[in-house]
Amino acid sequence: MLKVVQLKCEYLKNPIDIGVTKPRFSWIIESDKRNVVQTSYEVHVSENGDFRNMLWNSGLVESDESAHVYYEGPALKSKTKYNFRVRISDNYGETSDWSETAFFATTLCSPNEWVARFITAEGKDDGKSSKGTLLRKEFGISEEIESARVYVTSLGMYELHINGKKVGDALFTPGWTAYNKRLQFQTYDVTEMLKQGSNAIGAVLGAGWYKGDLAGWIGRRNVYGDKTALLLQMNVLFKDGSESVIVSDDEWKSSDGPILYSELYHGETYDARLEKEGWDKPDYGDSAWEKAQYVDFDLKKVVPQDGLYVKRQETLKPKAMFVTPKGEQVIDFGQNLAGWVKFKVSGNPGDRVILKHAEVLDKDGNFYIENMRAAKVRIEYILKGQGEETFEPHFTFQGFRYIMIEEFPGNPPLEKFEAIVLHSDMEKNGTFSCSNELLNQLNHNILWGLKGNFIDIPTDCPQRDERLGWTGDAQIFISTACFLMDTALFFRKWLRDLKAEQLENGGVPFVIPDVLTNNLQSDRIIREQHSSTGWGDAAVICPWTAYQYYGDVEILKEQYETMKKWVGYIREHAAEGLIWDTGFHFGDWVALDAKEGSYIGATPTDLIATAYYAYSTKLTAQTARVLGNINEAEEYDSLYDKIIQAFRNEFYTSRGRLAARTQTAHILALMFDLAPIEHKDRTIKTLLKLLEENKGHLTTGFLGTPYFCHVLSENGHLDAAYDLLLKEDFPSWLYQVKMGATTIWEHLDGIKPDGTMWSANMNSFNHYAYGAIGDWIYKVTAGINIDPSFPGFKRAIIKPRPGGGITYVIAKQKTIYGDLSVEWSLIDGYIMVSVIVPHNTQAFITLPKASPEQVQDKGIDFVTCDGGCAGMVGSGRYEFKYVYA
Ligand code: BGC
Repeated sequence: MLKVVQLKCEYLKNPIDIGVTKPRFSWIIESDKRNVVQTSYEVHVSENGDFRNMLWNSGLVESDESAHVYYEGPALKSKTKYNFRVRISDNYGETSDWSETAFFATTLCSPNEWVARFITAEGKDDGKSSKGTLLRKEFGISEEIESARVYVTSLGMYELHINGKKVGDALFTPGWTAYNKRLQFQTYDVTEMLKQGSNAIGAVLGAGWYKGDLAGWIGRRNVYGDKTALLLQMNVLFKDGSESVIVSDDEWKSSDGPILYSELYHGETYDARLEKEGWDKPDYGDSAWEKAQYVDFDLKKVVPQDGLYVKRQETLKPKAMFVTPKGEQVIDFGQNLAGWVKFKVSGNPGDRVILKHAEVLDKDGNFYIENMRAAKVRIEYILKGQGEETFEPHFTFQGFRYIMIEEFPGNPPLEKFEAIVLHSDMEKNGTFSCSNELLNQLNHNILWGLKGNFIDIPTDCPQRDERLGWTGDAQIFISTACFLMDTALFFRKWLRDLKAEQLENGGVPFVIPDVLTNNLQSDRIIREQHSSTGWGDAAVICPWTAYQYYGDVEILKEQYETMKKWVGYIREHAAEGLIWDTGFHFGDWVALDAKEGSYIGATPTDLIATAYYAYSTKLTAQTARVLGNINEAEEYDSLYDKIIQAFRNEFYTSRGRLAARTQTAHILALMFDLAPIEHKDRTIKTLLKLLEENKGHLTTGFLGTPYFCHVLSENGHLDAAYDLLLKEDFPSWLYQVKMGATTIWEHLDGIKPDGTMWSANMNSFNHYAYGAIGDWIYKVTAGINIDPSFPGFKRAIIKPRPGGGITYVIAKQKTIYGDLSVEWSLIDGYIMVSVIVPHNTQAFITLPKASPEQVQDKGIDFVTCDGGCAGMVGSGRYEFKYVYA
């Protein structure tokens, strides 16, 4: 049995918003055999369903590629649906049937195709307003409808309605991009929503990231503009082949609506008495509405959606309702999350519901909101007083576990509240569980750190007046994120913004989209404007990591110039082009060895900056090689060698002492291979000594912590790595778990052992950065690794390394080739290891403490290696059991 399933085009199942000229196809192979390799494929693309009229027949292509296979046919038309199917042969000589037919559809492929214009309901005095506005239009359809697509975007956020229903389930559209450079539009299939006769289309607009408050601590607003506006074009195709186009223009009508106020940080005020019943349906009397006004915006900046949509993902029921010592009525959802509260309420017209959001309670059990800083995190709903009313906000979200009910008509019934978890619509890729419950909770917290902070862009935190795309946080966490969720499109989009926001001189803003450069005058901590080490390096580390996980060379092609410019920027600012000792750096941010009153750890920033410079240069060289730019690869290799040499001269004494006696300095030197070979041992020993001096605890910050366990386990100290990971007292990952955390905290001691809090001005309880330890857990404890030369898990390196008293692990990873899994368990002196390798891939499996004789009956060529034995296997399921001593 050989089967081709799960066809995708540009990572998506049946996408309708393809804007590229050469979309790529991927498929999964099913077979009942082992060692299955695809030997050839055929792809058919047709504009009609039955493939009689073929647009492109790839012919029989001898290739083992089943991911990212390019469409190579004639130019695709815009706004057109194409079917495709795939058939393959394998190394057993078997040929599959044709797969089920899948499709992709192109969207508007060029800015010239827009005939619509941006229209607004706001006037010249509305710049500071955060109200929601309405735009509407009625139109008639007399012919029979074949299909209808709507192409739409906005300045600010929009919610689109047709004939009384919301279009699609995406939220916060059009997402957040560097709007002044690129603005995504969305494509919806609305065939089923239209009817012959009268129709109405309407949109609700809100301030969103476009004109609302951003970076609350420096008080930015109207970053991109001061009027919300809608751009919409609907193509309706009729059965007789004719077409009608409905566009946003000044014939639309506009009005204020029930959303009095909606701001991302602050929440929403909604007066249901102001609802305009039937405004999104035909035959609504809009004669009192104003005429919509045109707004200018360069249509060349409008691009097809390239990220994932934010959607409702989960619904959590409340766990408890109680009154705090201060007398506040509080609901606990049991999980810190990002999203909003949906509630049902009955009462009189004008009655109000007022809610506030918090992540934690204080030491005395009171509602703790100080760490939200300027974010008001407040919902106010004013009842219309007609039976039971249901409310969900529109253009805001909050980071919370608890809500305080400040006002509610009557007694709030617990069952009328639900927490709706929102995040970008990523497929869950990786799972991990083991015998250690605290570690399982840590993994849960890491996953929820991801969920809470992957809302269209990777944010530092989802609750206070910040919620920005901090580059440092993203580069630290990306590998963990890629294991847990399919973030390929999520990062593709964000990296396109990084590319767009990169400065002329190659500098990289601190946050993407950039709302800080040249606006930090009033900031207490940050003196310079952009380009910190460990933050700007996201320009290199993120594309490289995404390429590793998804095997997608396009991401490297897109980002290569950006990578080069970043390395060039550093070179320009480094002493003799080698030691980066200028500029402002966040350094080992929030490290525990920071001086009193500082967030910047004790490790000298020039050491960190030069270490990261070396690392980024190395990855840029590797990228050049992947892209076939051999000359450039060699140039970067030679620059890399020089940086390492300079690092050694500058930071190592001739006898091998590293200039900075901090854990992070030693971690980075080892992680980035900067220690001179002859002094590597001393570097490791000193690191162990530093650990011991701190009673086995870390003192590291953002840049040292993620790599700590890696350098220990890579250098012969697996036990020390497990000890560190499994420490339960402060400072440690599990300290938080034991303190009841359900997400990862910004500070290892956000809540101190005595219950008091870290300073409220920087104390997020949902900050994924320290969740980067997930990378070690998945790669070392579970043993799931990628061979960098065969990215996308085309060849996996499976190397579980039991330890820490853990008796079993179950880990799964959904790769672009199919499901990979590793399970191991220790029972009665034996170890059982079982591995599933997806078809059309290989895995190099290392079995810990095994000798080839113990496992030789598996028909695999095992050789002694690395404290165990190792062998290459093809696809299939493998089980090993041997005495483990
Ligand atoms: C953010 C961090 C970020 C940092 C810069 C903070 O306010 O929350 O996560 O990376 O600033 O150092």
